[in-house]
Formats: sequence, C-alpha cells, structure tokens
Amino acid sequence: MQNFSAVFGRFSVAAGLAVLLLLTTCRPFSPPEKEAVPLAEHGMVVTAHALASQAGLAVLKAGGNAFDATVAVQFALAVVYPRAGNIGGGGFAVFRQADGTVGSLDFREKAPAAAGRDFYLDSLGNVIEGMSTSGHRAAGVPGSVDGMVRLHERYGQLPWAQVVQPAIELARDGVVLTESEADNLNRFREALTALNPEGTAFVKDTTWVPGDTLFQPELAATLERIRDEGRAGFYEGETARLLAEEMERGHGVITAEDLRNYEAKWREPLTGTFHDFRVIAMAPPSSGGVALLQLLQGSEQYPLQRWGHNTAKTVHIMTELERRVYADRATYLGDPDFFQVPVARITSEDYLNGRWASIQPDRKTPSEEIKEGEVNQIESLETTHFSIVDSARNAVSVTTTLNGYFGCKVVVGGAGFCLNNEMDDFSVKPGVPNMFGLVGGEANAIQPGKRMLSSMTPTIVERKGKLYLVVGTPGGSTIITTVYQVVLNVLEHDMTLPDAVAAKRLHHQWLPDKVLYETGALSDEAKTQLEALGHDLEEVSKLGKIEAILVQPDGTLVGGPDHTRGGDDFASGY
Ligand code: DON
Repeated sequence: MQNFSAVFGRFSVAAGLAVLLLLTTCRPFSPPEKEAVPLAEHGMVVTAHALASQAGLAVLKAGGNAFDATVAVQFALAVVYPRAGNIGGGGFAVFRQADGTVGSLDFREKAPAAAGRDFYLDSLGNVIEGMSTSGHRAAGVPGSVDGMVRLHERYGQLPWAQVVQPAIELARDGVVLTESEADNLNRFREALTALNPEGTAFVKDTTWVPGDTLFQPELAATLERIRDEGRAGFYEGETARLLAEEMERGHGVITAEDLRNYEAKWREPLTGTFHDFRVIAMAPPSSGGVALLQLLQGSEQYPLQRWGHNTAKTVHIMTELERRVYADRATYLGDPDFFQVPVARITSEDYLNGRWASIQPDRKTPSEEIKEGEVNQIESLETTHFSIVDSARNAVSVTTTLNGYFGCKVVVGGAGFCLNNEMDDFSVKPGVPNMFGLVGGEANAIQPGKRMLSSMTPTIVERKGKLYLVVGTPGGSTIITTVYQVVLNVLEHDMTLPDAVAAKRLHHQWLPDKVLYETGALSDEAKTQLEALGHDLEEVSKLGKIEAILVQPDGTLVGGPDHTRGGDDFASGY
C-alpha cells in the first residue's frame, strides 16, 4: 500500500482525505445487476432504469413515502433515461393511499396559445409532413415539473430539496451508460445533431460505447433551479427565459405566458370492476382508463380462462373487443375541459353489451364495418412507466412521456432537457393517422390550451379491498392493450407477475385492421385458425415494456420489470 503523503505530495493528510472523499462521492453512477424475481418486504420501486429505481428506493429508506419517491424517480429518469424520462414532457399519476383513498393527477402537456386546428396544415389543407413530430413546433407546453410540485405539496413527507437532489447528482457526477442507453444515443445522433447545431450533452465526437459516462451539467443546473425555486425554477426565471430563447431560435411558438399559465389538474380516477377485483385507472384526457374498463367489461362476458391464454378463440374475442373500443376512442375521447366526453355512457354495461352484440364467433368483423357506438345523450385521446409501493402501502402508478424518443429532438439550449413532440397526439386533421396510426376527429382537434388525447394507462388494482397490482407501460397506441393483457394474465389466467409480464402479447387498434403479434405469441395452429376467421396477422418484435408491482397474500411485494424485452428495467426493494 502506498504512503498517503507520498501519493498527495505536498498535501496534508486531511486535504488528501478531502480529495479522496470528493473523488469517491463524484464517481459516476453505475447501474447494478438485475435480480431474476425481485421480492421485497417493505417498499419497492420498478422503473425502466436501475439508477432511477435506486433513487426512489433511497428516498423510501430515508423515510419518504411513495409520493416522495415518485418525485425522485421522475427527475432521475429525466437524467438517466433521457429518451423518455423528462422534465420537458408530461404524464399521469394514478395513486391509492394506504387508507384506500384513490386519486389521480393529470400533468399532460397543453397546446400553446398560438396553436389552432390547422396548425399543421399547409394552405391547401394538407398535413405538413413531420411538423407535428419533429422540431420546435411539435412541442406542447411541458407539465411534468408542475405535476411533481403539486403531488409533493399535497402528499409528500420529505423536504422538496431532498427528493430532487438525487437527480442533480446523477446529472452532475455522470451516469455510466448501459448498452441500451449507448445504442439509443447513437441511434438518434443524427436527428439530435440536426436540431441542436450548437451541440448537446447527448452527442460527442465519437459514438457512445457501454461504459462511457454521460455528464449533463446544464440539466444539473436546471434541476438545481427546480430544487431551489420549485415551480418557478422551471416555469419562470432563467429556465423559462432559456426555453423562450430556444423557441425563438427554432421558430417555435411556446411563450413565457404559456409556461406561466400551465397547471397540472387533479382528476377523479375512473374505477370499475372485473370479477372480484376493483380497477382504478386514468380518466380523460387519457383514453387509457375508459378503454381498459371497456375491454375488461367485454372480457368478463367470455370464458377466456377456460379457452386459454393466446389461443385462437381467446385472441379472436380480444381482437373484436379491441377494434370496437378503439373506434369509440377515435370519436368520443379528448380533453374533457374542451369536449364533452361521454365517459359514463360508453363505460356503462348497457352501452357495452350493445357494442359487443355484433361480435361473431366464427368470423372477424372488418374494421370498415365498425363505427363508434351510438351515444344519443352527451353528458353534463417514447414514454416510460414506473410503479412504487411504500411500507405503509401507499401506491403510485405513473406513466410519463416525451412521446417519441427524445421527443421533438430539441434540447433546450443552456437548460439541457429534451422537449416533447406531444402535439402529434392531437388529431391534426380528421381521419389522418398520427405516428401511432391512430385517427381522430373533433373531440381531439387542436385548440389553444387544450390537452392532447393520450393512451397512457397507469393503473392500480385492488383485491378484496386491498392493494393488489400497480401496473403500466409505454408503447403509444399499444399501451392500452398491453396493460389489458397483463391485467388479464394475472386476474383471469392466474399467472404469477413475472410470467404475466413475460407472456407474449398481441394488439389491435381498429385501424389499421391488423392483429399485431409478438414473435412467439401464437402457435402455428392458432395462426391458421385466426386467419380462417379473417384476421390479418402481422409479426412484430415487441409490444410494451411493463413496470409492475404485485402485493402477494402474505404482504410481500413482487416486482415485475419487463426483463425479457431488452432494456434496463429494474426493481429495487427493501
Ligand atoms: O400519450 C400517449 O398516448 C403517447 N404520447 C405515448 C407515447 C409512447 O408511449 C411512446 N413510447 N413508446
């Protein structure tokens, strides 16, 4: 062992120790190894990245509750998982407190005041290719920071600064890139360079390799302002000024006033039942809750368990339910602050039983023959999910997004964060599909200050009045059907959580009229039978990326990160 004073030359031993401490604390963060079936007694955090899960876990262990951990994870993901984790995007949180009270917070982005119905159309009324998906004009006014501030104000226990701090350290001290993160940054190198000619932390001279360290000093400074000033650290002052300057540089339309006016909203979550279970899900402006409840009500009408998981009979019925549900979505769902969304009617038994009446056991109904259901009386539309349960059994289910990978690919100059391209979730022109192939109309047309329809489906399930399952996923239009299948796998097919998450999935969304199936989801026999019923099948490599937690009858928590579909999904528990 070398002599200390020899190593540090003229430094005193005390100064040497200080430097050593600095070197130790400033070492970049490296993700740990995954566990096959994560189990925990007290609390658990399941996210798309090990370092975000660990940030949440540290907060739980320090005496924070699930809401404190939510804030820590949301900000940590913005650093370690920049393709989807964000402060420049938005999302939804569905939660259930230990005493059984349920709630939800909508921190979805809003259209800037300057955006209207024809924002993405040329003078002939044609959609301008790429404008709603890429560059400054694709961005909605971000909601994540206001969402976290409000959630923490109402339900947090630890000081705000303490729950924001882990993200600051990750950004400042650096994060060692996993293979998936390095690949991802390389994949979007060209697009990120084109939109950020001044350079960003995400692009360096050479391509990234696993083991490289990503430092984000500008993002660290932005997070420090959020830590010190709360909401004002993002929607006013230096960050707002940098964002407005970025908009000017790229001819975007988000103004300082749009930022000042942004407010997350508390909304009543939607609740429904499936057999003995109670399902708590997100209300509009997400379509996720309505669609999930519709699908589960339809599934209850058929003996899917007896027919078996992913057999032709089961897949046929699920597909027929899905095409009808997505047709309703296209017509009736949008921001309830701007459009009267007939939620009660289209989730009612009476309406739904009528809707399923046209399902034929021996042939598919072509999507062109399906329209939305009849509603006569209108009553007075890249992402990441995380699930958290604390030791008191508060549960929070959050899906948050920039929409596409790295959103609109604009990184706000000097502030270091990606802006979303959520404006593409509006129906930019009736009948014209968005990047997920979804169509829509009046309900989801662009209006200033309106929220774009979402498919995000953060969900919580109770069993016998107790917390049972916390679940959600990214995947654009496939979010709804991915959550639906994992819920069915656990509740109907009695699978363990890891099996339910790993099980191969399928998807149908009315238009296009195709059944997508993950490689290995269907046996050859099931494929032949489904084709005989008229279904058009298309193989895809993967659908969704679940992050779930299940409470076992003895109270133990089981983590369900989506280990089998690549990526760095990770459960941390204690
Ligand atoms: O809100 C929505 O429905 C979409 N913006 C979600 C996008 C998404 O999941 C992309 N990631 N795979």
